[in-house]
Amino acid sequence: MTITTCVFDAYGTLFDVAAAARQAADEPAFSAIADCWPELAAHWRQKQLQYTWLRAVADAHTDFWEVTQNGLDWTLEAMGLQGDDTLRQRLLDLYWELQAYPEVPDMLKALKEAGKQTAILSNGSPDMLSGAVRSAGIADVLDDVLSVESVGIFKPDRRVYDLVGERFGCSPGEVLFVSSNGWDAAAASGYGFTTAWVNRAGEPMDRLPWTPAQVLSNLIPIPDLATA
Ligand code: LAC
Repeated sequence: MTITTCVFDAYGTLFDVAAAARQAADEPAFSAIADCWPELAAHWRQKQLQYTWLRAVADAHTDFWEVTQNGLDWTLEAMGLQGDDTLRQRLLDLYWELQAYPEVPDMLKALKEAGKQTAILSNGSPDMLSGAVRSAGIADVLDDVLSVESVGIFKPDRRVYDLVGERFGCSPGEVLFVSSNGWDAAAASGYGFTTAWVNRAGEPMDRLPWTPAQVLSNLIPIPDLATA
């Protein structure tokens, strides 16, 4: 089936979630994390995601900004950094202006030039997403930014994936859904989207009932996949 619509996960896929810890670690005020920032970034991300899944199954939704802060607070305590309020604030501020991966602007531009509809579908709250889109300068190559907040539950609940068809009037098979989260790409395959898992870290495939159609190491092949 022809792909009409390309939909991207945000955090980890378009925006580098490790960038906040990496940037703070470079600043003289935060030399405490100069060596351990990769561990901080990994724990923070893992806890943030765990809290989204737990809140979804427990029917206890809150927004992504809250779970982002909760994940950071857990991580700072686990690493013995819980008293450092300046570090906490700096990391949270940087999360609003995460760097996009370098290939993102050209990749989205190529999709628009090929006549595809483009969107973000993310756990992020609308204000977090607009901050990230603005700082990455990609607003003009996105047709929309869809947030789970309009259904009040996190991925991979099917109601989140339903947002794409509701917005663009397309069938699931016409959608190329791209995520760096193996579980998100897998669940989106189960939903019926054509999927690409951007596996930058070379992680093993998640053991789930579904598998992504494509596994990529970055976003560069996306326009070719969408027009194939
Ligand atoms: C998102 C998270 C899962 O952007 O990365 O939805």
